[in-house]
Amino acid sequence: MPAHNILSDDSMGETKIIQRFAEVGYQIHPDAVAMIKEHGAPDKLIQDILASLDGSVLVVKPEHIKSRLPQPTYGVEVLDALPTTCVGNYEEFLGYFHDRYAKLSEILRRRIGARPIESINLTKKSREEVTVIGMVSTIRDTSNGHRLVELEDPTGMIPVLFPNNKDVFDPSTRIFLDEVIGITGSLTNDGLLIANRITWPDIPPKKNNRGEPKQNSEACYAVLISDTHVGSNTFLEHAWSRFVKWLNAEVGDDNQKALAKRVRYMVIAGDLVDGIGIYPNQEKELTTPDIYGQYEAAANLLKGVPPHIKIIISPGNHDAVRQAEPQPPLFNELTTAFPPNVTFVNNPSLVKLNGARILVYHGRSLDDLVAALPGASYEEPDKVMAEMLKRRHLAPIYGGKTTIVPGGTDHLAIDSVPDVLHCGHVHTVGISKYRGVTLVNSGTWQSQTEFQKSVNLEPVPGCATLLDLNTMDASVLKFYT
Ligand SMILES: [Fe+2]
Repeated sequence: MPAHNILSDDSMGETKIIQRFAEVGYQIHPDAVAMIKEHGAPDKLIQDILASLDGSVLVVKPEHIKSRLPQPTYGVEVLDALPTTCVGNYEEFLGYFHDRYAKLSEILRRRIGARPIESINLTKKSREEVTVIGMVSTIRDTSNGHRLVELEDPTGMIPVLFPNNKDVFDPSTRIFLDEVIGITGSLTNDGLLIANRITWPDIPPKKNNRGEPKQNSEACYAVLISDTHVGSNTFLEHAWSRFVKWLNAEVGDDNQKALAKRVRYMVIAGDLVDGIGIYPNQEKELTTPDIYGQYEAAANLLKGVPPHIKIIISPGNHDAVRQAEPQPPLFNELTTAFPPNVTFVNNPSLVKLNGARILVYHGRSLDDLVAALPGASYEEPDKVMAEMLKRRHLAPIYGGKTTIVPGGTDHLAIDSVPDVLHCGHVHTVGISKYRGVTLVNSGTWQSQTEFQKSVNLEPVPGCATLLDLNTMDASVLKFYT
């Protein structure tokens, strides 16, 4: 590209920058102008650049100014916090479900006009099409093969019939107990609502561009991993060491090394260690049969990661914190050996990395969803994760394998839409986009265990997902063959 002609520039900001250089006899390349402008073009920066130029420079190019520009900082912002205690009494359960209803019904109300159930019960005008929003309180199949659901809102309860001859009864639109949904249908004389349409809280059809401006426009990546299971004899030490070598730009071709140098974050979505007493006879499969020793070993492995990479660790069901969700971060006693670039967060947790909002959730509820959703499988975990966004809830099925702490607030409702949903738990890899949100299940660093063999689960180990924090595009890097 030719050097910038100062007379043809139409932007005041750019013109000023160009003039400052022209005044002392330099032309400046447009890319260099853009770089200075991006940093707010403070006079001090321009003075600093000018002072650094030697007499041989005629045209100031990006390579002349790069070292003078302020180095970007890559911070970690944790966007949620948990109450420390919960009693689990009746009031807290009630509070939990009220909060779930409030959050999800508000999302639905933005999309559909609905009437309070009580007002429908009072008028009972037959044939009229009405819409209600409520929480599913009972589900049963009638002897004629129809499905009868009771829907509840704060004003009352209404029976809803899904006739078996309508599309709405399609098994792929499976309704769960305690879900909050919108139903549009026609009323019968005796106050029964015959469903025509279900509306899920869902996320907007096409997510607008990310709301936050990028903090750094230069290439910036996060590596998403999960389920390292340190302490297990199936932990893949060799694959891990290749991964760490790549992060240090010691292995791979030039392109792969260049990518490694742009990695700023590592996010671990739970099951950092294998734990103790998680399943019967687990001790036979442990190399480190002591929980403190397992975390120490994990800390030592993470010390191999370059210290400029910020590491975010969220717990899973194998970690030594309470099993009920939301789980708090790992306790201080377990984390003393970890390097200072590690941040411990809740499960689930919403973190902001370089302006991108990453919702990290271990994914225990995937067990419940795979069992309940027709067509769902462990081989395609991302498809199941899309259901979480559609239902705006990380664990839409209450009372299954996923235990939820009834702390008065529903921390598992997805009330604000993330840029990325990152899960683990199922030990398989899946990446896709749902309505503009990137879905990643990042697999495991553990080969097949005896238990997985017995249930025929084929893990996908030794993979890391590379996430471009400017475009939110994700790709899989393999370190195990
Ligand atoms: Fe796991």
